[in-house]
Amino acid sequence: MDVDVVARVLSTLPEDDDHPYRTGPWRPQTTEWRADDLDVIGEIPADLDGVYLRNTENPVHPAIERYHPFDGDGMVHVIGFRDGRAFYRNRFIRTDGFLAEAEAGGPLWAGLAERPSLSLRDGWGARGRLKDASSTDVVVHAGVALTSFYQCGDLYRLDPLTLETLGKAEWHGDFPYACGVSAHTKVDPRTGELLFFNYGTDEPYMHYGVVSADNRLTHYVDVPLPGPRLPHDMAFTENYAILNDCPMFWDPDLLRRGKYAARFHPDIPLRIGVVPRTGAKVQWFEAASTYVLHWVNAYEEGDEIVLDGFFQEDPEPKDLGDGSYYQRMFRFLALDRMKTKLHRWRLNLTTGQCREERLTDSITEFGVLNSAYGGVGYRYAYAATGVEGWFLFDGVTKHDLLTGKEETYRLPANVYGSEPAMAPRAGSAAEDDGYLITLTTDMNDDRSECLIFDAARVGDGPLARIRLPERVSSGTHATWAPGESIPGWRTAESPERAVGLA
Ligand SMILES: [Fe+2]
Repeated sequence: MDVDVVARVLSTLPEDDDHPYRTGPWRPQTTEWRADDLDVIGEIPADLDGVYLRNTENPVHPAIERYHPFDGDGMVHVIGFRDGRAFYRNRFIRTDGFLAEAEAGGPLWAGLAERPSLSLRDGWGARGRLKDASSTDVVVHAGVALTSFYQCGDLYRLDPLTLETLGKAEWHGDFPYACGVSAHTKVDPRTGELLFFNYGTDEPYMHYGVVSADNRLTHYVDVPLPGPRLPHDMAFTENYAILNDCPMFWDPDLLRRGKYAARFHPDIPLRIGVVPRTGAKVQWFEAASTYVLHWVNAYEEGDEIVLDGFFQEDPEPKDLGDGSYYQRMFRFLALDRMKTKLHRWRLNLTTGQCREERLTDSITEFGVLNSAYGGVGYRYAYAATGVEGWFLFDGVTKHDLLTGKEETYRLPANVYGSEPAMAPRAGSAAEDDGYLITLTTDMNDDRSECLIFDAARVGDGPLARIRLPERVSSGTHATWAPGESIPGWRTAESPERAVGLA
């Protein structure tokens, strides 16, 4: 392994930190690495060609009062595979908030578990006065990685190979600066378009938009809601975008007093909104009450739209009084507490009716698929399994949605995984002809590896394990981008030269 330290960022976190989401598998990194020719156990398939990008929460400064796991500064990791070799880079996203706090030498913004009035400056986000850490999600659109924040904010543009922050999405001046953009933008692999939504506390409470493959905002419409809502994800088909109004929202009375307390309302149905991709009229469908954090995919079938996602059987888990203070405080993040199960909604565009069914009794979340099948009929979903009581992943399940068959690979004890991504084999013919990628956080050996699975046989365990220079923090979302989607990928001898930055 040919490895260099590129930079070290000064952390002001306490030496004796005891917050479970800033220590152990969530211990933030402060070093930015550049590593080529990574050591491999096994063999990297020669037809694995492209990059796995992973966003994580890496706090540099303590909270003003109380830290929430999603407050950390965004750090992106890339593992690139080309010609049977792998390289690795990691970088903090140079957000406006990160740079301002670096200059101030400490925290300037209150986090999700704190009162907004504690913020020393105005900020970003659906609720306002938050730091836009751009730490939630990452996609690749028009050859550039875009990171985003789940409470809405800017989209930061990163070189997908060097991870250098290139600035913010502007869309020729049409970026919706007033509301920002939520995490979980979607890239349609057939049109190259980026679909997105945002939400906030002012009417109409949501917007939906489309950006072309050449970065022009081509569509942006109001999506009126009954009040401020907390949508997290969207889906799309060939002709429709799918939005949602889940009955989990800030308590209106407390909101009037400047307090942001999310409450679930089991007596209010889930509403799913279907809007033509270039239209404005939303058709709403009512379904059983739940909160859906993530959808997997959607597609059209006759008069129906088939929509798959994770139904939460208990969106507001009770404090059972056991576990540590932090475990009880963040019980809302544990998959076993929310009981997240793969579920199918069938939305009939003619009758306006919704039929729904649970697809499995297994608890998984953070579902991904071969992105070439995004928006069209598909068969396989890959999802993470969760550690009891914590926001940590301990394995990956392949769901066959045609037969109902599942296979799971569990990581060894005290080893945690990242959201997987499916990397189709170069020239692949079948949907599961490819590889599944995840990063581990190994607390037994204090190290991280990148695992490569055969996507057709996930249960068999990894084909190859690639050693990273440092143990990476746990985090949230990841993506796969084929090499052919990255400018200069094939003509370059090194990642830097691929993008002309050497
Ligand atoms: Fe998410």
